[in-house]
Amino acid sequence: MPVLMEGTALTKRYRSGQAALEVLQGVELAISSGEVVAVTGPSGAGKSTLLHLLGGIDRPSAGQVLYRHKDLYRLSEGERAWIRNRAFGFVFQFYHLVPELTALENVMLPARLPRRKGWGRRFGLSDVSDPAPIRQRAADLLGQVGLPSRLNHLPAELSGGEQQRVAVARALMNKPELIFCDEPTGNLDSRTGAQILELMQEVNRKQGTAFMIVTHEEAVSRIANRTISLKDGRLWD
Ligand SMILES: Nc1ncnc2c1ncn2[C@@H]1O[C@H](COP(=O)(O)OP(=O)(O)O)[C@@H](O)[C@H]1O
Ligand SMILES: [Mg+2]
Repeated sequence: MPVLMEGTALTKRYRSGQAALEVLQGVELAISSGEVVAVTGPSGAGKSTLLHLLGGIDRPSAGQVLYRHKDLYRLSEGERAWIRNRAFGFVFQFYHLVPELTALENVMLPARLPRRKGWGRRFGLSDVSDPAPIRQRAADLLGQVGLPSRLNHLPAELSGGEQQRVAVARALMNKPELIFCDEPTGNLDSRTGAQILELMQEVNRKQGTAFMIVTHEEAVSRIANRTISLKDGRLWD
């Protein structure tokens, strides 16, 4: 499978007062199309930091992040935001749903951001332009993640596992190639967490979506093609 995402010589330094903290020290990581990569490691190892660099959320101190051979951090802010919205999905530990919006509206959200004609071709993606089926697609996705009867519930009216299913549906809205998950089961009991991982596996199998999953959950190795661990600023196979 072709390489989708590549991090080369990634370094991230944080400065607090006089002290500099080098969280990542030359990390190399490639994710292929359709691959599920799990990243484990102790708390504070820099897992979230790495996910933010690869996801186009936070700039590395040194090194490159290539998506489809384009250096994410040499693109304009607008282009990077477009790629985040169109090619990537994100699932976080605390769901990050908009509390005032229903499940359906939350899932529709990524499709509501402005689209730019012609940008798709620049990044080898098809342009999505038709807004009419958005509501239908969001409803279908909520059915697919097992919540066909929760479309009009607010996040506060859903359990943690249900909220995370909504977050997975939202991540799928724009048909991403790669979904970044930061401790997606970290706030769930182990049975519910295992169900979320199974859901991701199903998405991966049926739609070929690649995943990078940062987690403490042992069960993740069952669904991952590759598990790597981050320690002392570097990745270990
Ligand atoms: N914005 C920041 N400023 C300073 N230090 C940070 C910042 N973000 C994270 N860190 C530090 O970087 C280290 C790695 O953080 P993080 O990537 O969140 O680790 P993990 O996700 O593996 O628990 C931690 O020691 C954390 O305190
Ligand atoms: Mg973290």
